[in-house]
Amino acid sequence: MNEDRYLTFALGKGRLASKTLALLEQIGITCEEMKDKDSRKLIFVNEELKLRFFLSKGPDVPTYVEYGVADIGVVGKDTILEENKNVYEVLDLGFGKCRMCVCGPESARELLKHHERIRVASKYTNIAKDYFYNKKHQTVDIIKLNGSVELGPLVELSDVIVDIVETGSTLRENGLEVLEEICPLSARMIVNPVSMQMENQRIRKLITDIRKKLEENA
Ligand code: PRP
Repeated sequence: MNEDRYLTFALGKGRLASKTLALLEQIGITCEEMKDKDSRKLIFVNEELKLRFFLSKGPDVPTYVEYGVADIGVVGKDTILEENKNVYEVLDLGFGKCRMCVCGPESARELLKHHERIRVASKYTNIAKDYFYNKKHQTVDIIKLNGSVELGPLVELSDVIVDIVETGSTLRENGLEVLEEICPLSARMIVNPVSMQMENQRIRKLITDIRKKLEENA
């Protein structure tokens, strides 16, 4: 272990990053300059604790961690499943809870039941493929979209979508519903496998401290 080495965190920009920083603060890890909401800065340092944080797009977090430019990452389980990188998932942080679901109009229920060759639109094409091909053994056509995926069935691009459902209001407001649940999701901490060995003590202590705090907060 090298005491002078900075431990680097990659955080997905937005709500997950704010919640992660709030949690880290509870175990005495702060980064004052990250609190400025208007800042466009991407890299922040806590010299005293020898920590470095950077903000990236959520789907890129596992990439930074796999390549070891970040030792630790915080990202949604959806991204971990979709990106399928060589990283250790070490902790469920409990926030950012939602579900990955197959959604569509009520009328699509029959198509799913009878294993019809349907069209599935999703931002999460790997998750959709794994679910339909490997779990349901159903041949489907997968169409990649980059957001506002609920449009798929509304404009008849697809029969159903595979997407994240949190409150369910996007579905309700668009006359769609959850047809099948794929898996529950939440924010997870991931670690680079080499960092886990090289910085074992520091990373283990961090995991233990966070786990304890999560138990206290529960
Ligand atoms: C996500 C997701 C759904 C919505 C679900 O979209 O893709 O559209 O949130 O939340 P709800 O159940 O609380 O309505 P996001 O806002 O991330 O944007 P996107 O559609 O561009 O992916």
